[in-house]
Amino acid sequence: MEIPKPKDLLDFAGKVVIVTGASQGIGAGIAQRFGEAGARVIVHYRSGVDGANAVVEKIRESGSQAMAVAAELTDQTEVEALVAHARKHFGSLDVMVNNAGIFPNAALLNMTRDEWRAMIEANMDTAFLGTQAAAHHMKAAGGGAIINLASISAMNPASDHSHYNSAKAGVVMFTRSAAQELGPSGIRVNCISPGLIARPGLEDAWPEGVARWQQSAPLGRMGTPEDIGDACLFLASPAARWITGVNLIVDGGVMSSMIF
Ligand SMILES: NC(=O)c1ccc[n+]([C@@H]2O[C@H](COP(=O)([O-])OP(=O)(O)OC[C@H]3O[C@@H](n4cnc5c(N)ncnc54)[C@H](OP(=O)(O)O)[C@@H]3O)[C@@H](O)[C@H]2O)c1
Repeated sequence: MEIPKPKDLLDFAGKVVIVTGASQGIGAGIAQRFGEAGARVIVHYRSGVDGANAVVEKIRESGSQAMAVAAELTDQTEVEALVAHARKHFGSLDVMVNNAGIFPNAALLNMTRDEWRAMIEANMDTAFLGTQAAAHHMKAAGGGAIINLASISAMNPASDHSHYNSAKAGVVMFTRSAAQELGPSGIRVNCISPGLIARPGLEDAWPEGVARWQQSAPLGRMGTPEDIGDACLFLASPAARWITGVNLIVDGGVMSSMIF
């Protein structure tokens, strides 16, 4: 096994990466960081075509290739087509980041079965389908890296989010299970559990939550999409070559505190 020099560990030149849900938010940050690291990036979106095109443009400005591709990720055929797209246009698939997800609130006593199912589908089914489709290609190619986006809610449940907390806990265990089965094929599967990530309008919409976060976070701020992007770069890189099945908490230290 060839081990790159430390300074080359985050060089993704020649690598092909799919980031789902990359037209905005965390996914956009992940896609841009992979592009800045030299990767050829498939910027997946569902309805956010303008956002996806803007991310593609930024990646091209940084000197890397990128392409926006639409897919409904709860549809197995569309997920398989997305993965095939990477192979067809860029020749391979080295890294799959299953980032897309939804997180509407609903109190347990009012939650409908449809709301429960939609949450599980958008967060868990998408991780399963994306992992399976990518792994078929990666197995044939001799290996790859898959990263699923979970949440600190998988460990410490947020209120009015029983469906989301459960879906993300499922993503963590699915990641471990996939790592176990796919390791012998040279495929590493890990997940990242972000804490609260800043987005436009969040401080106006939820001032008390943001203030509480900033008071309790040892590192004193919300996260950025780039904070999560850099954790993805690490887990996808040869620096993490002996790491699989982990849940990397990236939350400014909030989970390190005792929560009563
Ligand atoms: N934001 C946070 O503080 C935070 C904290 C912990 C974990 N996370 C997790 O991190 C991930 C990204 O969060 P975010 O805040 O960046 O979310 P976001 O801004 O809402 O973006 C998520 C993207 O996922 C796409 N998507 C959702 N369901 C889809 C489906 N069925 N098929 C295809 N695309 C779908 C959406 O596409 P369209 O808009 O085009 O429909 C959207 O662009 C999620 O998994 C989330 O649970 C977020």
